[in-house]
Order: sequence, then structure tokens, then C-alpha cells
Amino acid sequence: MSAPTDWFRYKGNHLEIDGTRLEQVANKFGTPCYVYSDRGFLDPLTALKKGLKGIDHLICFAVKSNSNLSVLSLLTEAGAGMDIVSGGELFRALTAGAPAQEIIFSGVGKTPGEMATALEADDQGIYAFNVESVAELATLSTVAENLGKRARVALRFNPDVDAKTHPYIATGLKRNKFGLDRKEILTIAAAHETFPGVSIEGISIHIGSQILSLRPLRESFTKVRALMKEVEKILPHRLQFVDLGGGLGISYGKERPISIPDFCKLVKEYFGKLSIKVILEPGRLLSGNAGILLTEILYRKVRTQRDFLIVDAAMNDLIRPSLYESHHEIVPVQKVKNGKNKKTDVVGPICETGDFFAQDRSLPLHLNQGDLLAILSAGAYGFSMASNYNSRPRVAEVLIQNGTPKLIRERETYEDLIRGEVHT
Ligand code: LLP
Repeated sequence: MSAPTDWFRYKGNHLEIDGTRLEQVANKFGTPCYVYSDRGFLDPLTALKKGLKGIDHLICFAVKSNSNLSVLSLLTEAGAGMDIVSGGELFRALTAGAPAQEIIFSGVGKTPGEMATALEADDQGIYAFNVESVAELATLSTVAENLGKRARVALRFNPDVDAKTHPYIATGLKRNKFGLDRKEILTIAAAHETFPGVSIEGISIHIGSQILSLRPLRESFTKVRALMKEVEKILPHRLQFVDLGGGLGISYGKERPISIPDFCKLVKEYFGKLSIKVILEPGRLLSGNAGILLTEILYRKVRTQRDFLIVDAAMNDLIRPSLYESHHEIVPVQKVKNGKNKKTDVVGPICETGDFFAQDRSLPLHLNQGDLLAILSAGAYGFSMASNYNSRPRVAEVLIQNGTPKLIRERETYEDLIRGEVHT
């Protein structure tokens, strides 16, 4: 239980972010709440930009990982574009001030309505659509033609590479629903004239999330570069961009992630000399370690084999441990030295055995009712995957910006829970 992440550190016995004690945040905003550090988002973005210096690039933040408006505008102002997967995310990105021309639309199931809105955003439309099937390409072509527009498109390539990650978040294997195989892409390129509403200008990939080794990336980059050459032989024009997706893993405690400079070196090695724009879609890398979930212990339930710490946050607030059995470090907000530890489960109040944040974790025995815990590395796929299950209002979000805590999402009320429902 040493210094948890770069941005959340103990000062004396108190866990702080940028000089703000988490006890203070809990007193002011209540628990549970998500707490983010602005530097947590900005430092990895700066490192990526530095690593890609010298090549034409656009870093599009994967909005799905953390879609709070203040987070999006923080990243927009720092020069990031946005990677979206729905009309709702488009709305958020534009509301946060992202220029449409720096937005990429990914995802296997865009509706014609979503396509039209994206084509008309800021008049010029978004930068590009990553298209995943022939049927989707045909629909996009028709939608664009009807609007008198031409959609810029990347064909999403499924390179059949094993990203060696959790099966639910591996996306680059043949049996996954994502992307087009080499043959399909070559067939589309040869038939490009049958899709007059689109202009095929790029190839995109995204082989999975929480990738910890360069090997699968190298393998897919090799395949993408070869495919780009083949496509360019068929099309009457050169490709303008390659979108290498997201997926870079972070440390949740023990992992040794790929270093940003090493990743950028690989990108430059493969695509640096091609005079094309390189697009990235990082989510977790920019948001994962920028946030924690702050929760209060409601009860200690003592058992012989293990104790349960029942906290006020639950699986509806952070579903990753229940859904993927993900490990999140859990640390006390106030440290006590030289105490004993005991095997402990940290669980929420929801009526499901799967409602846990940690199982069999060695945690201080002194932790008890009223103490605060920080569940670390919760900035990505935390609040954005939250639900109202068990009719629990979604929690507040707080951003420590330039050293000052700001409420960036109010805690939901009971009224919020029933908004839109009809009482017959
Ligand atoms: N681009 C595309 C097309 C994606 O599907 C994703 C994530 C990203 C970019 C961003 O990936 P990242 O850089 O964050 O790995 N809920 C899961 C992760 C699901 C990822 C879905 N796609 C989790 O909590 O681990």
C-alpha cells in the first residue's frame, strides 16, 4: 500500500490529490463520489503528443471511457479530438466544444439518424466514420448522398490478432463482431464507385483494450501497413490517414504497461514515413489513473474466515470488478501505521453476490464504520458504465482542477430516478 498512482499520493497519513485531502472532498461533496485529477488526464496526453512530434497526428479521446462534459472540455482545450460511438457521445463532444472536424465516429451499429447528425455537425461534418460492414457503408453512402454530402471513411480492419486481454474486451479476432477482413476490404475498394456518397480515405483498427505488450500491436501494424499498400493499388487516390485505435493498458497495481515513448516509437517506425495522418483513440490511457471512487465504510461484518467491509458504493457505480473480475487497488484515505491486516471482502449494498470491489484482500483490521476508502484506477469505464440498479442514484463527480475541487456532476436525486417514467 505505497503511493497509489502518480496523482493520488499520501502526504503524511492522508491521501491527497494535488494538495487536496480526500477527507475534505468527502466532507464537502459526500460519498460515494468519483474524484478526478486534471493532471491525471493531461500528463499522458502531453506525453503522447510529445512522442508523436514530427508526424501529422490527431489524438481522439475515447469518450466512452469517461464522458463527463468537464473532462471532455479539459481534453479538448488541451488539443485532443474525440472518438465517439453514438449520437449521445456526439452531442456530448460538441457540447463540450470539440470541433466537429476532430471527431471520429466508431462502432458497429451507427443508425442512419446518427450518421446524418454527424454529417451535418458544424456544417462541415465530423472528420471521419470508421465503417465496419458493407451494409453500413451502403447506408452511409445513401445518407450522405441524400444530404448532398460526401462522408470521409476509414474501413475498420479486423487483423485477426490476439490482443491477449480479457475476452470481453478483445476485438481484433476473426470471431469478434468488429471490423472487416482483408478480402472484404479489397472487395469494397474495388467496388468503391458503387458507394458514391463516401470517400474511402483511411484504414482503422482497434484490436482490444488494456493491452500490455507491444507484440500484438506490432503484428497488427504490420498487417495494416501491408493492407494499405494493397488498397492504394486499387483506389484511384492515396489514403489520407490511418487510425490505430486505442487499447493501451495502464497499471491497476501490478501491471507493467507499455511506455508511451515506446508506443510512439513503434507508431513512427511503421507509419512515420508514409505522409499520412495518424489517428489514435486512447481512452483508458488518458482517464484510467486520473480518477478514484471515494467510498465510506458502512459496516464491518466479522466472520471467521474473512471479514466483509460493506461500503456505500456498489457494482452499479463501478461494475468492472463484477463484470470482468478486474483488480482495483483499494486503499484507506487515512493510513494507520503498524496495524494488523485481515483477509477482507469489500462489498456494496446491492442484493447480488457479484456486488464486490475486492475479494480475499488483505486490508487493515482497524478499518471500520465511517472510515473512507479510495478505489483506485477508476477514471476509465467507471462512472460511464454506472447504472441506477437497485434504484440507487448515480454518484457525484468531482474534478480537482488547478488544485481546486469542482463539482462536475451533481449526485442524482430520487426525483432524477423516476424522471420520464409514467405513473398510470
Ligand atoms: N476505440 C474503439 C473503437 C474502442 O472500441 C475502444 C474501447 C477504444 C477506442 C478505447 O479503448 P481504450 O483505449 O480505453 O482501451 N469497459 C471495458 C473496456 C471496453 C473498451 C471498449 N472499447 C473496461 O472497463 O475494461
